[in-house]
Amino acid sequence: MHGQTLLLPSFVLVSSCSPQKQYFYPLLSTYTNTSSLINMKRTSLILVLFLLANFIQAQTAGFDQLAKTPPMGWNSWNKFGCNISESLIKEMADAMVSSGMKDAGYNYIVIDDCWQVGRDENGNILADKDRFPNGMKALADYIHSKGLKFGLYSCAGSKTCQGRPGSRGYQFQDALQYARWGVDYLKYDWCYDEGQNAKAAYQTMSDALKACGRPIVLSICEWGESKPWEWAKGIGQLWRITPDIRDCFDCSFNWGGVGVLQILDKAMEIYGAAGPGHWNDLEMLEIGNGNQTETEYRSHMAIWCMMAAPLIAGNDLRQMEPLTKDILCNAGALAIDQDTLGHSAFRYLTLNGIDILVKPLSGGEVAFLFVNRSNKPAELNYDWNAYTVYDEGFEHGSFYVAKTPYKIQDVWGKQKTGTTQKPLKTILDAHESLFLRLKKIN
Ligand code: GLA
Repeated sequence: MHGQTLLLPSFVLVSSCSPQKQYFYPLLSTYTNTSSLINMKRTSLILVLFLLANFIQAQTAGFDQLAKTPPMGWNSWNKFGCNISESLIKEMADAMVSSGMKDAGYNYIVIDDCWQVGRDENGNILADKDRFPNGMKALADYIHSKGLKFGLYSCAGSKTCQGRPGSRGYQFQDALQYARWGVDYLKYDWCYDEGQNAKAAYQTMSDALKACGRPIVLSICEWGESKPWEWAKGIGQLWRITPDIRDCFDCSFNWGGVGVLQILDKAMEIYGAAGPGHWNDLEMLEIGNGNQTETEYRSHMAIWCMMAAPLIAGNDLRQMEPLTKDILCNAGALAIDQDTLGHSAFRYLTLNGIDILVKPLSGGEVAFLFVNRSNKPAELNYDWNAYTVYDEGFEHGSFYVAKTPYKIQDVWGKQKTGTTQKPLKTILDAHESLFLRLKKIN
């Protein structure tokens, strides 16, 4: 809602109880004593401005609704880099449907860097004709015909990270083009930023998207450098918090790549910033890309679901091992990620090298994840009744089970279920996690 009253001083903001029901009404009475012709022109101008203001208002009101739960989809970068084409993207859309991922809730098909080659004489962004011979509109139509949504990548700098044309200076023109093509999601990167202020740069693209006539999710990819969790709510619906993910569980590279545990640790510092319509983006998933064990990929997925992270698969959907599909499409895991309360888990304790993450869920239920950080097996011995877990996300500010025991359900369905009346004792393998959902017994 910010800033619109300044743009239109001849309007008065009429507010009802709900902020989404605020509209601008013209102050017609100020114009009644001039000539009728001037009056008519003014009235027409006022009417146009009135319609425009309501249009912008409606666009902005829809902004928070675009990602009430963390977005789910697929992105080309982790697996294919610049090696992308129209046929590849169509095959991926087909596979999202035939694999059951669409039914599980995944819906965005996002083309990352390298689809763009230049601008025409009017400054319009051009897609690579050799790789996308039918253009972006036809591809968007195809993706929409499958009941899916279409995403593109651009960059706030003058160039993208792969040296393709960025959006700096063309934000509104590009946003209009995206709307014409039928884009539903924009991943917006931060290479060649040339000293811009990050908040201002992302605000510009956010304004352009809100004015373009089509609801488009803005995925802020600024790698957490200027703490977007402190300013990006209302600008974009999700923001990256770290450098790029690598397909490894515990690793970090001096040029910036990080593994699952390194992302977990960053997410823990800022878990409170996540909520409906505004999410910490823990990065695209590496599940199925081959460099981690099944155990590690399950922990990767479980951590993302606990943190209410966007789930953007980054593997080849056409050739998924049943195991990969099982991890990505597990209904219990996805229900925890997509829980309507929208709370992120927090790290309650680390016991014997095992991180204990806790996430309040809707309906008074709670998710627990025990992650063995170490590369050796570790013993877990957790007495539910010995701890009170405090967090504002719980109904009464805390979670204490000694008097009201809970039923325990293993999210992956591997272990026997039990209750919180008995201490939890098990051995967790290297990087293994135990993913549990707790429900009140009565
Ligand atoms: C940056 C982003 C990646 C990817 C590449 C593409 O590194 O963080 O996710 O989009 O650019 O060039």
